[in-house]
Amino acid sequence: MFMNFRRIHKVQCIQLLTTALVLCMVMVSWEELDHHVVSHVRSYTYRYLVNSYDFLNSSFNIASKHHHGQNGTDSVDGRLGRYPYLINHPGKCKGDGKSWEDVLLLLFVKSSPENFEQRQAIRNTWGNESFLLSELSANVKVVFALGMHPNVKRRSRVQIALQQEDQAYGDLIQQNFVDTFHNLTAKLILQFQWGHEYCPQARFFMSADDDIFIHMPNLVKYLRQLLSSQSGATHLWVGHVHRGSPPNRRKDSKYYVPYDLYPWPSYPDYTAGAGYVVSGDVAAKIYHATLVLNSSMYIDDVYMGICAKAMGVSPKEHVHFSGEGKAPNHSCIYDHMITSHGHATDVRSLWQAAADAKVNSRGFMGNLYCTAVRAMLLCLPYYQNTYSCMAAFT
Ligand SMILES: *[C@@H]1O[C@H](CO)[C@@H](O)[C@H](O)[C@H]1NC(C)=O
Ligand SMILES: *[C@@H]1O[C@H](CO)[C@@H](O)[C@H](O)[C@H]1NC(C)=O
Ligand SMILES: *[C@@H]1O[C@H](CO)[C@@H](O)[C@H](O)[C@H]1NC(C)=O
Ligand SMILES: *[C@@H]1O[C@H](CO)[C@@H](O)[C@H](O)[C@H]1NC(C)=O
Ligand SMILES: *[C@@H]1O[C@H](CO)[C@@H](O)[C@H](O)[C@H]1NC(C)=O
Repeated sequence: MFMNFRRIHKVQCIQLLTTALVLCMVMVSWEELDHHVVSHVRSYTYRYLVNSYDFLNSSFNIASKHHHGQNGTDSVDGRLGRYPYLINHPGKCKGDGKSWEDVLLLLFVKSSPENFEQRQAIRNTWGNESFLLSELSANVKVVFALGMHPNVKRRSRVQIALQQEDQAYGDLIQQNFVDTFHNLTAKLILQFQWGHEYCPQARFFMSADDDIFIHMPNLVKYLRQLLSSQSGATHLWVGHVHRGSPPNRRKDSKYYVPYDLYPWPSYPDYTAGAGYVVSGDVAAKIYHATLVLNSSMYIDDVYMGICAKAMGVSPKEHVHFSGEGKAPNHSCIYDHMITSHGHATDVRSLWQAAADAKVNSRGFMGNLYCTAVRAMLLCLPYYQNTYSCMAAFT
């Protein structure tokens, strides 16, 4: 073979230059690349190779670091900063004031003091307890979890309004912590603590954001199916599952988590906090985990994942629980919808439309049409983060 040395020289030069250029580009955009690609690859690898996260229990366990006996939980409570109640309804799950009612679902809506409009929209639509009881014969308790208004100057005025609101509706549960993003874990603990103390008999427990839409008829149907199945109503944690998510290391992000808070490249599996359901036994386990696990992880969904992992509970994916996204507005989507995120005032029109949807009377052609519509809406790439493409065919 004939080789031209000059030519090789030239080719090598070009190769060298190209390599240098690529390296430069990688270096310049490294942070972006790291955030979007490398950290995910690292995290997935970790999730699928390690997948035990045994270290979580030992490194977050405060009981093992501080010596106290069986009855030492009070001092743990103090250290974890459990907060006193400002507004409470201890009798919510006791019908006649003495014995526990048979509650199908205890539903906590994570709200904030100033979100009066959202709470009102929920009360008028999917969160209307008396409607759920009369139309679906479902005993569901809907309560709102709150802290205190973060602005000290406005706090007392807002607090008076909250007390009036609570006198009218009797559904606020408020503790004495500042209601901020970084205190969301305190709100999570409030929910499980309250459930443990005042509604331990509830078959299911749900936590949801106040900008969510819950298709109650579908949810109640699903929960009843679980109850009548062989083993389904225990050991359950269901929602939109995040598997092997990497911690966010960008300082400008809302979800930034420093290395000293969480040094590992991947979180344990958890469900999107927008809305998830656990069975009564799991709620009790999570409560007990919150007593011994350090709650400084301020991303509440992740903290829930840490608690569940320590108790040997894994989340289960349900395609009709949405993550961040809003479900497409189409009657064919309502058939199986459980939750949809990112709603405000449109909750009312959606409730009207969803309650109207005639699922069973559609017939073969109607079902075929709806599957096609769902495939169009869910499998094309614009509605990311609502339901996966799979949801079109179930
Ligand atoms: C978690 O750690 C505590 C104390 O270190 C231990 O008693 C407990 O059994 C552990 N739980 C699991 C599920 O490993
Ligand atoms: C709840 O629904 C009932 C009818 O089922 C209705 O009378 C009541 O006004 C509703 N409550 C709210 C707060 O919208
Ligand atoms: C959380 O609430 C507590 C009690 O009110 C307060 O001291 C603390 O500053 C709050 N933390 C954040 C990050 O807002
Ligand atoms: C919880 O973890 C944080 C950060 O890792 C640490 O500063 C704090 O001392 C821990 N708290 C307890 C009670 O162990
Ligand atoms: C959904 O679409 C219907 C018409 O198909 C419309 O009347 C309704 O306002 C829409 N709702 C929302 C929440 O966009």
